[in-house]
Amino acid sequence: MLFCKNVAVFLIFILFLYLCRFYIFFIYKKRRFLKFAYNEKGFFLPILPQIGTMYVAIFTGTQINPLSIMDWMYKKIGLPCSLWVGTDYYYISMDADEIKTILNHSEGYGKADFYNKFRVFFKDTLLTVPYDQWKVRRRHFTKSFKPNMLKMYFPTFLEQSRQLIKEIEVQNNNECIFERFSKYTYTNFFLTHAGLDETSKFKDMNRLGVLLGSIQSEFGRIILDPLMTVRLYFKCLPKGKNIFEKLKEANTFIMGVIERKKKQMKEVKGYIENNKEVCLLDLVLNFQNNMFTQKQVYEEFGLFQGAATETTASSLAFTCILLGMYPEIQEKLYQEVRNALGDCDLTMEAVESLPYMEAVIFESLRLLPVIPLLGRKCSADIDLGGKILPKDSNFLIDIYHLHRNPKYWKNPLKFDPTRFLPENVKNIYPYSFIPFSNGPRDCIGKRQALILMKTTIANILRNFRIISNHKSILEFQLRSCVSIIVANKLHYEFIPRNRQN
Ligand code: HEM
Repeated sequence: MLFCKNVAVFLIFILFLYLCRFYIFFIYKKRRFLKFAYNEKGFFLPILPQIGTMYVAIFTGTQINPLSIMDWMYKKIGLPCSLWVGTDYYYISMDADEIKTILNHSEGYGKADFYNKFRVFFKDTLLTVPYDQWKVRRRHFTKSFKPNMLKMYFPTFLEQSRQLIKEIEVQNNNECIFERFSKYTYTNFFLTHAGLDETSKFKDMNRLGVLLGSIQSEFGRIILDPLMTVRLYFKCLPKGKNIFEKLKEANTFIMGVIERKKKQMKEVKGYIENNKEVCLLDLVLNFQNNMFTQKQVYEEFGLFQGAATETTASSLAFTCILLGMYPEIQEKLYQEVRNALGDCDLTMEAVESLPYMEAVIFESLRLLPVIPLLGRKCSADIDLGGKILPKDSNFLIDIYHLHRNPKYWKNPLKFDPTRFLPENVKNIYPYSFIPFSNGPRDCIGKRQALILMKTTIANILRNFRIISNHKSILEFQLRSCVSIIVANKLHYEFIPRNRQN
């Protein structure tokens, strides 16, 4: 008994010494952050070794995820506020002026510490490389997003949207709307950016969507858990091993596509030199005269595929459901499409000049921005307009709450596309709407995403009326990993439309 008591006292003493050592070093090393944080909300949350203040995650419910944490911080503490992930300092903001400063500041181009976790899949890619390397890559890859390339991709988008209509006609409405669009955007991505032709379209695109979906949600857990190193997770835990297997299967698929392309490039002499319209995969393979290793090609192309598909699929799904929830807005959009196009084929110019269509999509992206959270790291002190954010701070851009910030949006929860009509756009506060981020490191594929979305929605509305029995977006149980996920099944139906009406 006495022995146990002595052991307990000894352990408490060791713990006490450990905590003293931790806090002395912490306060000394992090004094500049602590001084800054002192004037911000969240300062008084106790900071624990290894965890920082991430224990707040346990207050957010059973499904811990970044979006729920941000929402908890917003409601219980208020924004802007501070968060410690381990010993890394994060400043969370939904202030448009501060966000504008960070996104355009040459010392704010680096990515936040949490992006390091992406390195398990994409070690050094456009998304994560340091600014000087990023500039060279971005210039190179931009070639495949130029207007002439988008024009070249358009017939594929059109054809695929027709195929989608046929599929919806024969299938019932039971398929999860996110999975439906996921398969659709994967197909579009591989047909355009990998230059696959229809005959070589891979049959298991659907399987790839499912695989990457489950990898994404598991990945969310790794990002959030400060105790979990990625290596430990994949090496030791059964779930980690399982995800690793799925990752391997997805890799095999993508590597197959890359190998086909390499063969094609070898077989056709002067393939790159004689070809003005080279697709993204050509450019990745050809980067600095084929400088990328096999692994780098896979990772760079994999990043594009991940960035292009789930984002556009979820945005399409949300827009369709919102149209189903607001029949009068749907009818107005339908009339715009009919008046502009009648029964003629869609053209890229026509889909790009539908103002109400653009307003509907933007309003959907405002309420449900598929990438709800971005992070930047300051490589020097940055003046945020009155306060100096110290060097090495992480700046979290809370797009989700920025888009609902009552300071910038009247009736923020109301689905009101008129906010984005040409005559009202001037009233939108700069940087209060940034679904594709903004500044130099913004989304490279935004115009392409919008063209695909507009083409798809126009063709759906010409053929179907959408209905959804949800009364409010508050019924959507939103979670996030990298992009927003909905935990509950959302209701929708596509009802064939009588064209004479
Ligand atoms: C609705 C659809 C889309 C949304 C909402 C979206 C949103 C975003 C956002 C917010 C970022 C900034 C990420 C960050 O700074 O951490 C980003 C970056 C990026 N997006 Fe998109 N995206 C969409 C579609 C696409 C498409 C279609 C492509 C490619 C075909 C694409 C490729 C990329 C790439 C490669 C980056 C990294 C760019 C860089 O760092 O230079 N995205 N996207």
